[in-house]
Amino acid sequence: MNEKFSGSFTQQEPLSDAAIAAALEVMQHGRLHRYNVVEGELGQAALLEQEFAAQVGAKYCLSVASGGYALATSLRAVGVEHGDLVLTNAFTLAPVPGAIASVGAVPVFVDVTENLVIDLDDLASKVGQAKVLMLSHMRGHLCDMDRLMQICNDAGVTVIEDCAHTMGATWNGVASGRHGEIGCYSCQTYKHVNSGEGGLLVTDDEEVAARAIMLSGSYMLFERHLAAPDRTVFDRIKYDTPNISGRMDNLRAAILRPQLRDLDAQVARWNERYRCIEDGLRETPGLQLTERPAAETYVGSSIQFLLLDWASEKVQEVIRRCADRGVELKWFGAPEPAAFTSRYDNWRYAPVHSLPQSDRILAGIVDMRVPLTFSLDDCAQIARIIRAEVGAVFQRDGSLPS
Ligand SMILES: Cc1ncc(COP(=O)(O)O)c(C=O)c1O
Repeated sequence: MNEKFSGSFTQQEPLSDAAIAAALEVMQHGRLHRYNVVEGELGQAALLEQEFAAQVGAKYCLSVASGGYALATSLRAVGVEHGDLVLTNAFTLAPVPGAIASVGAVPVFVDVTENLVIDLDDLASKVGQAKVLMLSHMRGHLCDMDRLMQICNDAGVTVIEDCAHTMGATWNGVASGRHGEIGCYSCQTYKHVNSGEGGLLVTDDEEVAARAIMLSGSYMLFERHLAAPDRTVFDRIKYDTPNISGRMDNLRAAILRPQLRDLDAQVARWNERYRCIEDGLRETPGLQLTERPAAETYVGSSIQFLLLDWASEKVQEVIRRCADRGVELKWFGAPEPAAFTSRYDNWRYAPVHSLPQSDRILAGIVDMRVPLTFSLDDCAQIARIIRAEVGAVFQRDGSLPS
């Protein structure tokens, strides 16, 4: 009888006792709004910002309502306006082009490579079209950030990093989110820290930081921030910067602070699981793993592999067979968006130019969550199931094109 996996791909770990205690404290005093502090009190949101800025080595940090809100706020803070073109990845998820569309700007999609990162040659050919690149480190894959920054700096293009999948990752020792002008992180349940919803934005630019804080809804209370520029910077921008409320509250901030202290240990646990699955899938005929460059330290909270140039019905068959054995895989080749998964040509509010290279790669990308509730035995079992099912379809059909 074939073995079957019975775990959940969407179950998180419970919050730690420290996070629960911190939440209780905020609930007991009732001051949940970030600016609702008593004389001499430092609010949880302000402390979270101070600690996260120190953790990633940034001068300024702002906590907000979601990762998507952080992205849109970044675009506004660097001056993107209605009708502007913004470069971004063809391989990403809906909140990224959504943030661009939310400010009336227009996404220009850049190809993906077989290593699932932005294609730097395609970027170099398109970089003259826009003033801003919203770079999505989709599914935690970091491109050569040194070369990317060189291309963008030479062209005078501002880089905003979407680090929704790379909180805790580094490139050449530099934290993800610290190469570009702004780094944006998500604290939503399926990411690397869990406050249900939430986002963080970091920058070293004082005016960008002041604008982002005003935009997030600080009214004239910006002096209650601990990772913010001084008052004179706000005096320069406060009459021209609208309030588009999207603040973080003290309850979420309180449960995030202990999680950020645990982040490195959690990253190590994710990577043990990732490597176990990766080892189990290595040299499966027909299946291509992603090469991870030595300069990258990643967070293996999900894993992808390519069934490159397989006929779509064969890929679907693998996904169906794995699902029958309890293994939940997502596919970026489906013509219709499903659940969290969609692709650049589904976002019809954005002009679509044909991207044959991306189409070929997206058609082969299979994606799987790796929650920390999986044991290493679970991971080994999942890899055995995928290997067997890929093998069964591949060997039966021998060659892949339909
Ligand atoms: C690649 C990517 N960027 C940005 C976001 C936005 O994060 P949030 O859900 O916190 O708005 C997500 C969330 O799923 C994402 O997957």
